[in-house]
Amino acid sequence: QEDKFKKVISHAKEYGYVFQSSEIYDGLSAVYDYAQNGTELKNNIKQYWWKAMVQLHDNIVGIDSAIFMHPTVWKASGHVDAFNDPLIDNKDSKKRYRADVLIEDYCAKIENKIEKEVTKATKRFGDAFNKQEFITTNPRVVGYQEKIDTILSRMGSSLEKEDLEDVRNLIDELDIVCPVSGSKNWTDVKQFNLMFGTKLGASADSAMDLYLRPETAQGIFVNFLNVQKTGRMKIPFGIAQIGKAFRNEIVARQFIFRQREFEQMEMQFFVRPGTQKEWYESWKENRIKWHLSLGLGEDNYRFHDHDKLAHYADAAADIEFKFPFGFKELEGIHSRTDFDLSSHEKHSGKKLQYFDHEINESYVPYVVETSIGVDRMFLAVFSNSLVEEELENGSTRTVLKLPAVLAPTKAAILPLVKKDGLPEIAKEIVEDLKWDHKVIYDEKDAVGRRYRRQDANGTPFCITVDHQTIEDKTVTIRHRDTMEQKRVAITDLKSIIDAEVSM
Ligand code: GAP
Repeated sequence: QEDKFKKVISHAKEYGYVFQSSEIYDGLSAVYDYAQNGTELKNNIKQYWWKAMVQLHDNIVGIDSAIFMHPTVWKASGHVDAFNDPLIDNKDSKKRYRADVLIEDYCAKIENKIEKEVTKATKRFGDAFNKQEFITTNPRVVGYQEKIDTILSRMGSSLEKEDLEDVRNLIDELDIVCPVSGSKNWTDVKQFNLMFGTKLGASADSAMDLYLRPETAQGIFVNFLNVQKTGRMKIPFGIAQIGKAFRNEIVARQFIFRQREFEQMEMQFFVRPGTQKEWYESWKENRIKWHLSLGLGEDNYRFHDHDKLAHYADAAADIEFKFPFGFKELEGIHSRTDFDLSSHEKHSGKKLQYFDHEINESYVPYVVETSIGVDRMFLAVFSNSLVEEELENGSTRTVLKLPAVLAPTKAAILPLVKKDGLPEIAKEIVEDLKWDHKVIYDEKDAVGRRYRRQDANGTPFCITVDHQTIEDKTVTIRHRDTMEQKRVAITDLKSIIDAEVSM
């Protein structure tokens, strides 16, 4: 698994998808740049979402609000007071850790031990081995499992201020050592706010403290009334937005999975109070269908329904994806009640209500939110698509089997040789197709090598111009996944590509 993840990261760099930010200065931790191919893939992901959410829903509109917002927004949203991670410092190494992650890592170590016991027993007992029976009866494994259960029940799903002492005690009880110094000399656990602060205004006394937004959702809430009125929107309706968000994450690892600057695709769906449960279920279903439509495999997704809810939510679930490092959150669907709008009413003094003609009543709408990270979606698609295939002749090929609709380059046009007028014809095809699709021209190296390069780059089609093209205006079109080649008329190329790559 770890190996696979390393391959994903190095492939993303080698093929121009993702680079470390400021790499020539040794990089900036948990900040990444999208490169020439990565940007195309990311744009296609955003378009695929936008089309499904905004274009195909008559009652959803999109906005693009500013990253800077009035500071009271973050007071009203609860972020100033409660958007925290629990931190603990090691006194000897002076290194800072997220307390929950230290404990999570400890759990992972125990899980590893269980895995090792199972592997050993499988070897020893061969066919007679019954895994279920083994893990429920073997005393050592049962002991490990009990430890994990105790930790999980003590930790809960979120760490409140009053629980911090308990978290600290748990670190002592588990005898957790600092990964750097090996010491157990820990400070107390403290809450650390994840918002980045900055200042607006030039002079010291008039400058205003601002935050970089940690989620795009608040830009939607504060525009609720403007959009509803100017768009003459009737409840139920949604407002969607794609944009950057910033969080001062303490644990900077897992590549683009957890970044300090990232992008979200969020949609707030405003509904009549009392109907939120139905809409919550309906959006859960809608969103999982969207994911499955990309064909990354049904087994790679699962729902995680939250038992412990944030103070503003009356239901919440994550769509988890099987990343190279295991199942992790990809998208959240939250029934947020009227918490945000009511709180903005209180803090702004402006009425944020809707008059429902059907029932002749004014109310603060309830909200069901869908929120997905663009970068996490990128990592899900990219890591799932990267495969090494054994070919019949014994060689292997690296293929990036991106869904054709998301692939950065849809087709590569290749003259078989660099003479006899073939490059000219190939370039004419490029000129013709480029109005509808991102295509490239490539004449360097033997055609077999060019095919492999495009396979690794995720290009769904290679179109080869050969000597027969001069005679009958046909070319071969090679499919990335099957490697099958067909002869087709140049005039049919556009419709063949369209059929596979259109959204
Ligand atoms: N408005 C709700 C909200 O922001 P969240 O669960 O904190 O909820 C939503 O974030 C999604 O944003 C997550 O499911 C994840 O895909 C993405 N996300 C959150 N933090 C991230 C980070 N540090 N790096 C990359 N993506 C992140």
